[in-house]
Amino acid sequence: MNPFWFNVFLCSLTVFACPAFLHGMDWKNAGKKYEISNLCKFCDVLSTTCDNSGDCKSNCNITSICEKPEEVCVSIWRRNDENTTEETLCHDPAKKLYNFILDDYNATECVMKEKKVLGMLFYMCSCRQEEECNNKFIFPPVETTPKVPVISQVMLICLMPPLFIAISVVISFYFYRVQRQKRLNKEWEKKKKKKRTHGQLDCGEGCAIMIDDDRSDISSTCANNINHNMELLPIELDMQVGKGRFAEVYKAKLKQSTSEQFETVAVKIFPVEEYASWKNEKDIFSDINLKHENVLHFLTAEERKAEKQYWLITAYHSQGNLQEYLTEHIISWEDLWLLGGSLARGLAHLHSDHTPCGRPKVAIVHRDLKSSNILVKNDLTCCLCDFGLGLRLDPLLSVDDLANSGQVGTARYMAPEILESRMNLENTESFKQTDVYSMALVLWEMTSRCSAHGDVKDYDPPFGTKVREHPCIESMKDNVLRDRGRPEIPSSWLNHQGLQLVCAIIDECWDHDPEARLTAQCVAERFNEMEQMDKLSERSSSEEKIPEDCSVSDGK
Ligand code: ADE
Repeated sequence: MNPFWFNVFLCSLTVFACPAFLHGMDWKNAGKKYEISNLCKFCDVLSTTCDNSGDCKSNCNITSICEKPEEVCVSIWRRNDENTTEETLCHDPAKKLYNFILDDYNATECVMKEKKVLGMLFYMCSCRQEEECNNKFIFPPVETTPKVPVISQVMLICLMPPLFIAISVVISFYFYRVQRQKRLNKEWEKKKKKKRTHGQLDCGEGCAIMIDDDRSDISSTCANNINHNMELLPIELDMQVGKGRFAEVYKAKLKQSTSEQFETVAVKIFPVEEYASWKNEKDIFSDINLKHENVLHFLTAEERKAEKQYWLITAYHSQGNLQEYLTEHIISWEDLWLLGGSLARGLAHLHSDHTPCGRPKVAIVHRDLKSSNILVKNDLTCCLCDFGLGLRLDPLLSVDDLANSGQVGTARYMAPEILESRMNLENTESFKQTDVYSMALVLWEMTSRCSAHGDVKDYDPPFGTKVREHPCIESMKDNVLRDRGRPEIPSSWLNHQGLQLVCAIIDECWDHDPEARLTAQCVAERFNEMEQMDKLSERSSSEEKIPEDCSVSDGK
């Protein structure tokens, strides 16, 4: 070979063969590219202290030229319960590695990507072009905001529309109520103006709510509503008109925002300690079906936080309670008939499980019926008040609930079965029967002050001379249980035919056997049937027609 061609041969060998040899490449591709570009860290699995955050250097001290030119540098970082490891290697990106495609092998740096592998944290990166590019593991910054789990995201997305609808409905309803209230207030103001111009109300002392027989307009709009408005009614307390076990009652002025006019109302004020009693009475009054002309008309309840008080705002009745009325007045037969009949109708409505229109209603028992818990209206009819011990006979109440409701009431008016704690709790009628017993004593009080028998003495409560002012249960037990005593019905009371019927009612209502007592409804019917008595009462009784006993029709 001539020397020129030999030199050419040697140069070719240097240029093509040597790099290929050095890098372990095949001769075919030698001289094309990447002599050093697939120089990678190449250890097997090593343990590492590297964390999956920031950058880490590999622990591998073996650098290798990848076997095949298409291979790239790969690093893997794993953590399981036991250890944390790194692995550096060469790999052909055309093939899967641990079931993953190397989709980042064109990178110059090894940026770790988390892969889903069961039971461990698994990061992998690949790169080429830079020498030992897999020596440095670059972890992406850890997300600081907690990832919302997919399920929560789905739930959030699903819940958004109904939530939005619900909020819209609530807001719309609120605005509807506000508008409606405004409209009603306006109508009310208008109506009242009209009434005043027609002279129906005497507003000298305030109007509407105190007028017994005028079902005031505020009644229809506010009755049986709790004042949920944070705004309290503009009320100015006047004088105290009553004091009960739990609260004091005041006559008060409910001012009109638009004028100097006011309504007279009654405000029953409970101190904070008597919250339970306020709540009980408020809950009883809040039943719209309780509304009745012989039940005190309820306007609203308020939490007076500033004064640390709870209020019940009701109609005001200037005649005061029945006990006061009977103390100061002798009543005619007609008055007795009005007072007694209305008392029975009020109690019958309270006990009833339906309204006069037939709507279902929860039966309520008073449990503290007495003449001081009955108000006298201007038309000389009664209305029941003071439901602090009242009990709604919810059909869901268990015998235990009823038993836990306790021996409550005022000893003087307590039925014998309460005095001896032997009420039949299996039957809610028993509670009504105890109210009927108390009603009998009130009817007796009324009769004792009725001029129709001509033997009227000063007012004395039932068992008045036999027990002290506030008798205890033990002394009432002696009278009512041991001696089977009842207030006296003098023979003079039986000379009047109407009174005779009333006395028969009284006698049947205070029977020792609760089951033998009349129902309030029956008493109401008997009073209705007595309507003609005022006309007949002056005549001698013998030939007069006695109204039929309604117990025949309803099993009493
Ligand atoms: N005493 C108790 N409540 C009353 C009321 N509403 N009106 C008048 N006097 C009362």
